[in-house]
Amino acid sequence: MQQHSLTIAPSLLAADFACLADELARAEAAGADWHHVDVMDGHFVPNLSIGPPVVKSLARVAKKPLDVHLMIEEPGRWVRDYAEAGAHVLTFHLEACPTSVEVLSTIALIRELGVKKVGLSLNPDTPVERLGEFLSSLDLVLVMSVFPGFGGQSFMPEVLPKVHWLREQGFEGQIEMDGGLNAETLPLCAAAGADCLVAGSALYGPGDMKARLSAMRSAAERARSSAESSES
Ligand code: DX5
Ligand code: ZN
Repeated sequence: MQQHSLTIAPSLLAADFACLADELARAEAAGADWHHVDVMDGHFVPNLSIGPPVVKSLARVAKKPLDVHLMIEEPGRWVRDYAEAGAHVLTFHLEACPTSVEVLSTIALIRELGVKKVGLSLNPDTPVERLGEFLSSLDLVLVMSVFPGFGGQSFMPEVLPKVHWLREQGFEGQIEMDGGLNAETLPLCAAAGADCLVAGSALYGPGDMKARLSAMRSAAERARSSAESSES
């Protein structure tokens, strides 16, 4: 398989919400590839974050793509708003859709709306095999490594076999991991075959974001190369 280049996406959930434009600029200056934008509705997850007007304002000032992670019920009802707000990647949760037909129609709608990449996410306790029937329609799979809802939780290594399974199925899209990623856990994700790595609390917060992001990128690159050489 042709490898995707590594994408590092700081999660804005850990940023200072009083100055989001500055926080986007800080992440860009630090070398971020995407901005990960967590949308929570207080129903699908027990937390509430931001909605379409904020995403639209972010899109106006961001110089890097917005990777919008919808942790909401009835995603099909809302994707138009997020597409129009400027999402570059639009990812919704498998658990938010009661039927396969609804998953497929939401994927089709996101494409029809002209969003560049369509992603589907799954919670740590959802079997990855449930994604099988959708893989050929997806650009990205987001494997959650914490239960969604809050930043700053501990990484769950037991989800790593899901990444291996996806690659064994021949999935050629991007595999993203989100939740508890830091300098120690992110190499595990890269070694397993994930190429899109989200980190909130490990990147935002006081201090030198650029140094932290560069260290994470090098650690992920190293883990990837050693996993490749042990395979061959
Ligand atoms: C969790 C969110 C994550 C969160 C990650 O529900 O989807 O994107 O911001 O935060 P950290 O990296 O602090 O676990
Ligand atoms: Zn997220």
